[in-house]
Order: sequence, then structure tokens, then C-alpha cells
Amino acid sequence: MYRTHNCGELCKKDIGKEVILSGWIQNIRDLGSLFFIDIRDYFGITQLIFTKKKKNIFLEKEFLIKIKGKVIERLSKNYKIPTGEIEILVFSIEILNSSISIPFSIENEKDGTEKVRMMYRYLDIRRNTIKNNLIIRHDLTLEIRNFLSRNGFLEIETPILTNYTSEGARSFVVPSRTQIGKFYALSQSPQLFKQLLMIGGIDKYFQIVKCFRDEDPRSDRQIEFTQIDCEMSFVEKNDILIFFENFIKHLFNKIKNIQLEPFPSISYTNAIKMYGTDKPDLRLDMSFVELNHLVKDINFLKDQELVIGIKVKEFVHVNDFLIKLKKVENKNFLWIHIQNNKEEKNYISSNQDFSKENLLLFIKYFKASPGDLLFIYFGNKKETREKLRKIRFKIAHHLNLINPKLFKPLWIIDSPLFEWEEKYKRYKSVHHPFTSPKEEDIHLLLEEKDPGTIRSQSFDLIINGIEIGSGSIRIHNKNVQNLVFKHLGLSIKEIESQFGFFIKALEYGTPPHGGIAFGLDRLINLLEGNDNIKNFIAFPKNNYGKDLMINAPSFLKDEKLNKLHF
Ligand code: AMO
Repeated sequence: MYRTHNCGELCKKDIGKEVILSGWIQNIRDLGSLFFIDIRDYFGITQLIFTKKKKNIFLEKEFLIKIKGKVIERLSKNYKIPTGEIEILVFSIEILNSSISIPFSIENEKDGTEKVRMMYRYLDIRRNTIKNNLIIRHDLTLEIRNFLSRNGFLEIETPILTNYTSEGARSFVVPSRTQIGKFYALSQSPQLFKQLLMIGGIDKYFQIVKCFRDEDPRSDRQIEFTQIDCEMSFVEKNDILIFFENFIKHLFNKIKNIQLEPFPSISYTNAIKMYGTDKPDLRLDMSFVELNHLVKDINFLKDQELVIGIKVKEFVHVNDFLIKLKKVENKNFLWIHIQNNKEEKNYISSNQDFSKENLLLFIKYFKASPGDLLFIYFGNKKETREKLRKIRFKIAHHLNLINPKLFKPLWIIDSPLFEWEEKYKRYKSVHHPFTSPKEEDIHLLLEEKDPGTIRSQSFDLIINGIEIGSGSIRIHNKNVQNLVFKHLGLSIKEIESQFGFFIKALEYGTPPHGGIAFGLDRLINLLEGNDNIKNFIAFPKNNYGKDLMINAPSFLKDEKLNKLHF
């Protein structure tokens, strides 16, 4: 028998019991006549006490030992851990397995560089931090499965080995051994399969599914990640928004005991106008105010494509910020600081030539009070919004305006169906080619006008500036689907070879349907207020897409390549 109890469960009520425990040595403390060892397993830590003569074998940190002993009351208690009021007086000890010296100590706080921890991820997982993250992931996943199953969703697995298509991100390819010269592609998402399930009459589908995308990893992006992928038949946009708003609220409530406020919906166009991004962080107010109508008589502003500003309330120590800002920004912007003193000249501005009258115009329009700072940017639409977006963010960090404990979800709806890709001189889908245009915009697919104005029936869930989920109502009509492919520059031949099977399927009485996929890794990372999704993945890749532990990717020997016909 390896254990009668685990290392996290013995407490005062067990005093007097004889027990057997197994675990790794966390710490050894030699106090002369007495000798202490902290022994750790998955469940916790228990203190062992030896009299000198009992400890007659060589022991080191991370040796795996089995002990027999008696639970006794501890003299100096540690109320921080559940076992802190007792210790085990050891009668006998057995080494179950030794350990070579460890590359970093297994402490809660970080120890060892990121690289070393990734090389020895199995040791990293012994740390409470990573272990607890995996437990949270399990709890969340279980809750998701239960919630969706309770609501009539069927979990169905779809293929990982699929085909390369020209839309979307780059795929990982897998050569076929039996079909010389042919390749599979690893699934980027089950998008087409889940739609085919709807055509197959499945009413509601979900899958907690691995997806693979050959893109540069970042703190919120891995090349191999997990989606909570969902699809429903006979639904309209609002059915999906209402259901999944409740789903997300339920998860926050169950996992974090947080009650979320109702999620507002903001159109893509308004989000860009108000925040300069389609992923606004609503923990921060300060939305952009458009000022073109106000500056018609101001020479250097009146002909600008866009003039926008924000008001920062009670900006203290404004000079430090402005000095830093001047080093990076010196054109197309104007700031006005309303001073606290009551002297005649009670505001200062970045532009000395600006008349008092004009300054007052802005101050009045923004209803600015002493201490407030106005930032006004002007120029072409895209750059100006981008600059103000960045400055809004910088100000938020400088003034510590973002509450890390707050969660502010919103839906971004009605994004454009297509966006122009200057590099390739063609349109690409903002979401993916299976997203339906808004009913009232469908006719625009047939017109020769700029398809960039067509709006889609899309919805993205943004929480605190992070895209947590993305979905849409899908096209369920063959002709509309063909038109979308055509606008994306696919020839009839390409449509047939890549999507012929799907176009055919659409012809068999396809039901109206729609769905969404959430990034599971991102959702946990957000819930836990962490800064990198890899902390919630047991064996993640590093920022170069490498697994440092197994040393993947790796070269293949010639004989292996030959078998794959390379
Ligand atoms: P999309 O590509 O937007 O949509 O992905 C859905 C969600 O998955 C998460 N995500 C990622 N998480 C970690 N690493 C990545 N590389 C990564 N890429 C995406 C994001 C994102 O919102 N089939 C569609 C969904 C649909 O329309 O139903 C899709 O895959 O949180």
C-alpha cells in the first residue's frame, strides 16, 4: 500500500492515527536532534518529523518517499495550510524513487527561467500555480459540457485531418503516405463540418476541439489551441446572442462567483468611430468625440478628413506625461490642459498660435473643468483613429484607470462582410466566407459597387478588449455562397475543387443556421486575470512555435522522407 491518506487531508481530528503517506520531498530542515521534511503530493503538503537516528538514509529534494508514522499535534502551527496544525512522527521511511538535482525549485512563486520551465514542463506542473490552472481548466470545461448538454447540444467530434483551402490563416499540412503527392491540412476550425452537421439534421452541436493555425504565437495566441465550438439550426442572430450571453454569465457565476451586467451590442462601425478599434475595452470610458462640425472656421483643421478628441478627467501630473509624449508624437495633434488656478490664462495648449477663442470653443464643447486634459487628433480617418486609440490606452495605463477585477463584455455586430487587402489587391472575408450578409445588404452582392459596404450577420464577443468568441448567421443558400466566393476572387474552378462538396450539400434543403466559437484558452486566461494563455495549457509551444521539452518540430531522416515521397 502506498498511502492511507494523501498529503493534503490530515488535520487535528486525525491526531493519534497511524498513517502511510507517499510524496515528493519539498523541503528538508535539519535542526540538530530533530529533522523535518515537507512531503508534497497533488493534494497538498504535510510536515514530517524524524528523530535523528530514524533519518539514516540520503535524501534530497524531489526524492519520492513513502513513510509510516503517527499524526501528532504540531508545536509551531502554520494556519496557512490545511495540514498546518499537525505533523507526522515518522517510524519508517522508504525511498520509492530518487531524483537527480532539479533545474529549479518547485515553489509557488516563479523560479527558473521560462525556457528552463518549458524544457522541464512536467516539473513545472508539480508547482501549485500550473497545477491549479489545469484544475481550473478542468472545472470550466466540465461546466461548459454540462451547460451545453443540458440545453440540448450534442457533442460530436469532427476530423482533424482535412483539406487545405485558400481562405483563413495558414494551415499545417500533413503529407499522405498512400496517396503520393497529396496532403491533408490540420483543421483550423470545424467550421464546414459543423455546418454539414446542421444540414445532416443535428439541431444543436458543440465540441471542445483542438484547432491548428500556422501563425506567429503571442500571449493570446498559440498555433495549437482549443475552441468551444457551437452551432444551432433554425436560429436568428438574437437567439444566439441571448443564449450565449447566458452561457458566459453562467460560467462567470459558477467559476468566479461574478454576476455580469447585460452585454451591450455595438455595431462594428460605431466601435471604430467611438474607440478606434473593433475590440474596445469598456472598462475605460473616454469614447472619441467627432469634432469636424466644430472646426469649420479654424484654418488648419477645417479641411482635415477627421478631427476627433477625448477628454481625460482630472489628469494629475500632466507635465510628465506630455514630456514623454512629445518625444514620440509631434504632429497632427493638439492638447489643451485646463489649469487649476483661477488666473486669467487658466489653460495651456500645445499650440501657441491657437487663438483663445478657438481654445474656448473646445473647452466649452467638452464641458471641460479645471484639471481636465483634452486631446485632439486630426488627419486621415484611419491613422487619426489609430493614434487616438493608442493615446487613450497609454493614458489609461499612465493613470491606472483600468480596474483589473472588472469584466466588461460586449457584442460587436454587423461587421463588414469583406475588407480590401492592398497587398494582394483583392477582398478577403472579415470573418470567413460562410458568414451571411445582412438580409437588407444581400442585393449588393449582385451590384458592381464596392462590396466593402456590405454588412454581415456577424457577432464577436469582446471582454476587456480581448476577442473571446466569434460567430455569425451562415449562408444557407447556394447562390449567395457562390457570389461570396466570387467576390473573394475564387474562380468557378477553384470553388468547385475546394468547396464543390459544400455547395452541393447546400442544395439539399439546408436549414437556416448559425453559431459561434469561443477561445477556451483565452476565456480561462481572462477569468483568472493571467497574462498568457500558455499558463493554462499543459504542454504549450513557445513564441517560436517550438515545444522545448520534446524538441518539436524536428528534422526527419531521409528514409522517412522517402517513404513520404519527398
Ligand atoms: P475565429 O477564427 O474567430 O472563428 O476563432 C474563434 C475564437 O477562437 C479563439 N482563437 C484563438 N485562441 C488562441 N490561439 C489562436 N491562435 C486563436 N485563434 C482564434 C479566439 C476567437 O474568437 N469557425 C469560426 C467561428 C464561427 O464562426 O463559429 C472561427 O474559428 O477567442
